[in-house]
Amino acid sequence: MQITIAGHHTTKVGELWEKGLADLFQEAIGGSVKNAGIDSRQIDQVFVASKAPGEFNNQLHLNALVSQFFNHFPPSMRVEGACASGGLALLAAEQAILSGYCQTALVVGAEKMTDTTASNATRILAMAANHDAENGSTFPGLYALLAQVHTEKFKTSREMLSAVAVKNHTHALENPLAQFHREFTLDQVSQSPLVADPLRLLDCSPISDGASAVILTGRKMKNKPKILGFGHAQDALDLASRKDLTTLRATVQAAQKSYQMADVRPDQIQLAEVHDCFTIAEILAIEDLGFFDKGMGGRATLNHETKLNGKVVINLSGGLKAFGHPIGATGIKQVVYLAQQIEDERYKLGLAHNVGGSGATAVVHVVG
Ligand code: COA
Repeated sequence: MQITIAGHHTTKVGELWEKGLADLFQEAIGGSVKNAGIDSRQIDQVFVASKAPGEFNNQLHLNALVSQFFNHFPPSMRVEGACASGGLALLAAEQAILSGYCQTALVVGAEKMTDTTASNATRILAMAANHDAENGSTFPGLYALLAQVHTEKFKTSREMLSAVAVKNHTHALENPLAQFHREFTLDQVSQSPLVADPLRLLDCSPISDGASAVILTGRKMKNKPKILGFGHAQDALDLASRKDLTTLRATVQAAQKSYQMADVRPDQIQLAEVHDCFTIAEILAIEDLGFFDKGMGGRATLNHETKLNGKVVINLSGGLKAFGHPIGATGIKQVVYLAQQIEDERYKLGLAHNVGGSGATAVVHVVG
């Protein structure tokens, strides 16, 4: 059976002070139903992704909140896996469709993160690390450790990290939904305020509000993008329990599974939305997904091999870095963005890579 992307919608991302969490969910759901051109009663089941709505918005029981937006109250459940919540919710829907349990599923993710201070948001986000083993760590701090190891082993330079941010901010200029429409030079990124050495402000994805929804169906539909493959893998939650910090093993394994299911090779992928929560994360991703040899991701980025019209276009949406990172929406928004590009006949084959925490969870989708 093939899974078809029947409809989709992503909201504008940014500091959306005039919209609450429920507004964001409703906007993404309404947009995706309209885009699919279906009667919403055809939705058999709903999968909701959100990382920390209790802490950010004092709102839990999201499955009930979202089901109530429909007259027929479809069965609904929330899926949480830190920043990979969106990718995991997609997997849950895909497995429900493939098992025959439901025919058409809505997957919707949202996060409303800007109604608090940056330090409180940092505390909330850090709950996705291993509380006992890494207490006191922040995500910029954990990714800074990964950057230090990569830098030491492969001579990945400050300029190479900056090249990721420069490229993704340039790509975002063409995306009206992106949080930032602002170009930066390599020097501006390299000299932005230090957050966790070597990561600086412009190495980080921002705090964002936004939502994204996709309607998946097992029904046959012509001229619509398809989910060709998916893969999901886990690794140790804390960095200290990992064997190798120059790679995210879960990404490697999830990618292998998705390539196998889709029957494609990494060199056939034309466009990839990868999880660049920090610039080093994109460098790790493009190596672990098999686009570049280990240790060469930074050089390839500096050589413009990952920008528009490069060997493989990485994060044309602007990525988490410049499009924004409303956590529960991110993994869904990546697939929505690929679907749009395929519908517009700009690309035929795309890959979405969604990571939870510092790499303990990875979900990869191949869309065509
Ligand atoms: N990229 C680009 N610009 C950013 C930015 C980012 N990540 N974050 C903030 N800015 C801009 C703001 O628009 C603002 O610009 P202005 O002065 O022209 O208006 C300026 O930088 C300062 O913004 P401010 O809101 O004061 O930043 P902050 O210090 O509160 O937060 C970070 C900056 C990097 C600490 C915050 O974005 C952060 O914690 N990011 C990481 C999020 C994270 O860990 N996600 C989970 C990943 S696993």
